[in-house]
Amino acid sequence: MDAEYCPVDDDGNYIQVDTIVASGDAALVVHREDMAIKMAIVYRHYTLEQAEENRGIIRREQEVWRRIQPDFNTPVQGIIQCLGLRGDTIEMRYMPGGTLLKWLQHRARPSIQLQKRWFRQLAIGLHNLHQHRVIHGDILSRNILMDGSLNVAICDLGASSLMPMDTVMADAVDAYNCSIWTDLCQLGLVFYDIATGRTTGISLYDNGGSDNSVASFPSRDMLPALSKRLWARDIIETCWREGGYGAAGAAGILAKLDKVKAPRRRR
Ligand SMILES: Nc1ncnc2c1ncn2[C@@H]1O[C@H](COP(=O)(O)OP(=O)(O)OP(=O)(O)O)[C@@H](O)[C@H]1O
Ligand SMILES: [Mg+2]
Repeated sequence: MDAEYCPVDDDGNYIQVDTIVASGDAALVVHREDMAIKMAIVYRHYTLEQAEENRGIIRREQEVWRRIQPDFNTPVQGIIQCLGLRGDTIEMRYMPGGTLLKWLQHRARPSIQLQKRWFRQLAIGLHNLHQHRVIHGDILSRNILMDGSLNVAICDLGASSLMPMDTVMADAVDAYNCSIWTDLCQLGLVFYDIATGRTTGISLYDNGGSDNSVASFPSRDMLPALSKRLWARDIIETCWREGGYGAAGAAGILAKLDKVKAPRRRR
């Protein structure tokens, strides 16, 4: 690769291209030993302002990690483990299973038992974020990662908002109009991907020509119809009703999961 197009790390060294796992608009993720390291995209030819703009985005995400997981040795259930915040980087436990999106696109349909495990892990992860007064803002199956034992965890706190610790989350919205209810709506879309194997591509930011930087909670008719036979129908429908889980928020999903009857065996 032409050196000019090879990004550099915090110390100004070229990043080995074969270690890059993913590269987005402002950040890239490299794999080093058992760590995934998220860092700003910076090229040698960048001005200081250009470099600082991307580093600032990582610093903002670091703030969210400091809130969620202040102790690197104590992971938060349902969230990727953060292993360190050195310089302008975010060091995480490497998740060898890749994104949930890729998994669903390339593997056989998961059993209902496995689907339920994922629902539970994701509900716990989102509940933990909300307990820490964080709105995720970007719950998508490409922001959910899998370890080597088919456990899922939420990643990418790049679009997350830190709310004051005394916030009543059920009533709160952030600067982009995101809330625990838009997070739950997006989680319902992820559940739909898992339970049906179909991805919808529905975004909270497609407001039909009005301001696309502000999210809105989609009306029910913008969301897919659910078959009466779908085991997760009630759970997903409740995600798609603004305020549907009431005071329990994401934890309400766990109570519903406990009540779901096992599908009847065909004789
Ligand atoms: N801990 C990890 N283990 C393995 N892969 C990871 C890890 N963290 C991130 N990745 C990979 O890097 C990709 C980008 O990470 P992340 O979503 O945090 O960055 P981003 O630049 O905000 O992404 P985007 O804007 O594309 O959503 C993930 O989709 C995943 O493929
Ligand atoms: Mg992402």
